[in-house]
Amino acid sequence: MISTLLSRAGGADGDPAPRLVYGADYNPEQWPRAVWEEDVRLMREAGVNLVSVGIFSWARLQPAEDTWDFAWLDEVMDLLHEGGVGVDLATATASPPPWLTTAHPEILPVTATGETLWPGARQHWRPTSPVFRRYALRLVRALATRYAGHPALVAWHVNNELGCHNVYDYSDDAARAFRDWLRARYSTVDALNSAWGTAFWSQRYTDWEQILPPRLAASHPNPTQQLDFKRFSSDALKDHLRAEREVLRELTPDIPVTTNFMVMGGTRGMNYPDWADEIDFVSNDHYVHPGPQDRDELSFSANLTSGISGGRPWFLMEHSTSAVNWQPVNVAKRPGDLVRDSLLHVAHGADAVCFFQWRQSAAGAEKYHSAMVPHAGADSELFRAVAGLGATLESLAPLAGSEREPARVGILYDWESWWASEQDSHPTSLLDYRQEALDWYSALLALGIRADLVTTRADLHRHQVLIAPVLHVVPADLAKTLTRYAEQGGHLITTYFSGVVDEHDHVWLGGYPGALRDLLGIHIEEFGPLLPGDSVELDDATTGTLWTDRITVTDSGTEVLARYRTGEQSGRPAVTRRPAGGGSAAYVSTRLGVEGLTSLLPRLLEPAGVESELPAEARGSVEPVVRRGAGGRFLFLVNRTDDTVQVPGLGGDVLVGATGADGTLTLGPRAVAVLRQPVA
Ligand code: GLA
Ligand code: GLA
Repeated sequence: MISTLLSRAGGADGDPAPRLVYGADYNPEQWPRAVWEEDVRLMREAGVNLVSVGIFSWARLQPAEDTWDFAWLDEVMDLLHEGGVGVDLATATASPPPWLTTAHPEILPVTATGETLWPGARQHWRPTSPVFRRYALRLVRALATRYAGHPALVAWHVNNELGCHNVYDYSDDAARAFRDWLRARYSTVDALNSAWGTAFWSQRYTDWEQILPPRLAASHPNPTQQLDFKRFSSDALKDHLRAEREVLRELTPDIPVTTNFMVMGGTRGMNYPDWADEIDFVSNDHYVHPGPQDRDELSFSANLTSGISGGRPWFLMEHSTSAVNWQPVNVAKRPGDLVRDSLLHVAHGADAVCFFQWRQSAAGAEKYHSAMVPHAGADSELFRAVAGLGATLESLAPLAGSEREPARVGILYDWESWWASEQDSHPTSLLDYRQEALDWYSALLALGIRADLVTTRADLHRHQVLIAPVLHVVPADLAKTLTRYAEQGGHLITTYFSGVVDEHDHVWLGGYPGALRDLLGIHIEEFGPLLPGDSVELDDATTGTLWTDRITVTDSGTEVLARYRTGEQSGRPAVTRRPAGGGSAAYVSTRLGVEGLTSLLPRLLEPAGVESELPAEARGSVEPVVRRGAGGRFLFLVNRTDDTVQVPGLGGDVLVGATGADGTLTLGPRAVAVLRQPVA
């Protein structure tokens, strides 16, 4: 789908062959007309073949309620088309103009403490406001009517990063829509009372009108109310996405529709696996947060985006050429980072590499955010690196459209468990769901073993090993699925605080880990969270932090792989595994961190016979990733280190990188090689 976007536009040189997309957000309204011509010339020079236009252009396109100004955008679209650059045209609804918020302040979001989020920045709109919806759809209709049939138009970009700043709105509109959502979910107030456990703290409702979003309360708000509000808030944004998409489908049925997700860092408000089917292709934005696992996190996010996209190619809509402007300290990228970061996304299935933004702004909140054309201009190291990357992507055209080759190991990433496991009034407030999954991922990278991030919507049976860290919410049908998975030969690995509650956040009674107790062959009567700084030793020389469990083995088949050597649980099982049918189910009851997991994993993977596919010299220092398509099997080797790594011959044509006479690949610091191998 993505690789054919360009043939739809005729491609930069009129060549309809699939290729990778290269480009950026383009904000010409920030620049005088004279700069536009230079922009298009430089885009060609850099190999740019697609830009996203109009993302924040509402005030310019519609300067007053009944005044429209499309002339400038007509000209931009024409110029880009003449230059062979396709357009991913935004619906421009991300930032309502001042005339609209002045006339209708009731579209502004309200926080849990009752404060209004005023205009002056961006995304100051309530997802549930009927007034906002009406104005937004009118704009979408006007744009789609005007540009239907324009030859530059290759895709629609709905809004921008839906929920980036406005995911939780506690306004009266939100309260009304929340009640409608709850009515659809529960039908009766009694059913809601039972799901929310309102017998507790005198919370019993007798009428829908009494129900509110979880606004600032005197103590811990009802946990199921909080969980449902998270589900509702994600659905409210999804509903807005659908509403814009419906207008676009009506007026331009042949133009694919996307919206940019934010699978990165701590962004958790939008349940993207649940949104993926609403759009024609998945797009993602990703920014590096500097830290010890920063590139593992990049790989993890790209990998998870691929999982959300069902393994199909996806579109990297934004990342940065160098520094951003919104972190406490905004670090510039080092030599090699630009190419390595970009190709790591491609390795995990991105068929497009785009940036925020084309030309670095001279004014506004993002003037210190890097871009493809920096403040220094095109005669700069950065622009030369940008053009070099364009050429590299050109040489990777044969892999456009290829899909990710399933890895033997899957890591289950579940939004419901993410939301529920981190709520308040739990055994510990220190649990970080995403970090838990990332640590398992880093440990697999350290061992040179490929793994796919998957969601509960995926076919889990594709993976011989399924790691489900902190799978906290396990409804009855998921428990059945996981039991069947193990009985049919899969090897499940799960951890503390998994299987504890059902979809209503009610505890499965009879001992933890309730829903998975029988499958795991263990019983836990009480959790043993650890204070910050405390740790326990295990008899396999690993160290646990954060959590311990008081485990009793209940099935004679359950093996104890490691025991606690110190602490309150000393002598008790810490890591267990129960054979189940053709497979097994293992449980890790403490936080071992990347180092501990790297040491434990080979034992956990042994029954499945999973080992690294890399030669010993490259394990740990190189991340292997594989895409597969009509053009072949594409093996990416990404140097995770700042040192040069030699990788003995693996066979295949070298698309990116250099080999010596004996076929040894030399990967410089942070370098990437891509090999094309015949499909077995
Ligand atoms: C987000 C937005 C962009 C820009 C970048 C800056 O991704 O979509 O408009 O603000 O962040 O990093
Ligand atoms: C207080 C309250 C109780 C209960 C406990 C929990 O003592 O009176 O209702 O909430 O705290 O520790």
